[in-house]
Amino acid sequence: MLANPPGIEDIFPDRIDRWNFVIGTARRAFAAHNFREIVIPVLEYTDVFVRGLGTDTDIVSKEMFTLEDRGGRSLTLRPEGTASVVRAYVANGEYNRLSSAKFFYCGPMFRAERPQKGRLRQFNQFGAEFFGSSDPYYDYESIAMMDMIAKGVGVADYSLLVNSIGCPSCRVNYVKELKNYYQGLTGQLCEDCVRRLQSNPLRLLDCKQEGCVALKAGAPLIQDHLDESCKTHHAAVKEYLSLNAIAFKEDPLLVRGLDYYTRTTFEFVTTRLGGQNAFAAGGRYDNLVEQFGGKPTPAVGFAAGIERMLLLIEGQEIGGAPLHAYIVHSGGGALAQAVRLASSLRAAGISCDLEPGSKGFKSQFRKADRERASFTLVIGEEESSSGTCTVKRMATGEQERISQEKCVEFLTETLHS
Ligand code: HAM
Repeated sequence: MLANPPGIEDIFPDRIDRWNFVIGTARRAFAAHNFREIVIPVLEYTDVFVRGLGTDTDIVSKEMFTLEDRGGRSLTLRPEGTASVVRAYVANGEYNRLSSAKFFYCGPMFRAERPQKGRLRQFNQFGAEFFGSSDPYYDYESIAMMDMIAKGVGVADYSLLVNSIGCPSCRVNYVKELKNYYQGLTGQLCEDCVRRLQSNPLRLLDCKQEGCVALKAGAPLIQDHLDESCKTHHAAVKEYLSLNAIAFKEDPLLVRGLDYYTRTTFEFVTTRLGGQNAFAAGGRYDNLVEQFGGKPTPAVGFAAGIERMLLLIEGQEIGGAPLHAYIVHSGGGALAQAVRLASSLRAAGISCDLEPGSKGFKSQFRKADRERASFTLVIGEEESSSGTCTVKRMATGEQERISQEKCVEFLTETLHS
């Protein structure tokens, strides 16, 4: 038997109803906020992520699935969507000339992490990116959209953490202070953090190693170094959230694992995912478009992990699309009539199924039960010779005989009423 690689899953129909429910809820929230879909490639030049996410991030330094094409160019399976959307936006003159643009996307991402519950190597995200304004309203709008989705699918007991990591100028003095703090503690830092202390000290606050996590408690806080405009921006985002009854907690150490953020960062977290506590996250990234060669364009967005959201609504009863009818037949001429009837029902938008073999009625009825069909249509010897079928309503057991010709009309009316 051939197995799939670790951390790379199949998603069978029993999870798909929930899957579609989550994505459907997200799509409705995106539409309600006037975000439109963009489909971005799964494979990009590696540089898109190296430049976009930063060389010191865990993703770029150790989690990318990278390969070489035949011409020796380095390609990477996308580990996230933001960098690709920015690349696409910068390249597309039609959209980047607009005063603002709103996109959402949905699809698989790839990170070579150690697989565990809620942490996969191929996972799926939906996300949204807004381009064109630094107004704090848009930070609020991103957060509110994700909050609407989390509430819409019924995620219970989650918290929203928010922070501001300021702009590059706020960080100059902060990073100096952070370096001073950690300089005396290098003996207690992990190997990566000793390196990061020289190359990108802010990343130390994102380290998940136990020893490094403990040291964060005494670290200086970026909030004490925000300049006036970053402070005002942060206060306005919080005010929008409060005014709209979106509960949040301030987390002054929330720097996020990607280098592109400026000002607002946020995460939706729960304690129900074991080691993985965030099921959605995002923030503002006002310099990335320019970094990718576009004209300076402020931006903000978020992404959610679909598999993590599925874990959070496990056990929730979600009705999938029902099978309207199952046709039970006695083979031969009855099968020919059953196939004809199935074709007319399907053409009229009524879902139905049947099995062509010569299984007994009992086994076909069992199948109808297993498929949770609303109606069973029986074409036995008698029905076959009179051109009729017996329609059985599975919920109540009521049945009546009608002509096969009238069946489409009858089911259309009954299903609509
Ligand atoms: P991220 O925090 O790296 O942010 O990922 C967003 C979400 O993707 C996480 O909260 C989690 O639910 C899910 N996720 C990440 N890694 C895994 C994994 N290995 N297995 C399962 N789920 C995972 C971003 O990707 C940014 N692009 C978000 C953003 C958009 N910021 C601005 N715009």
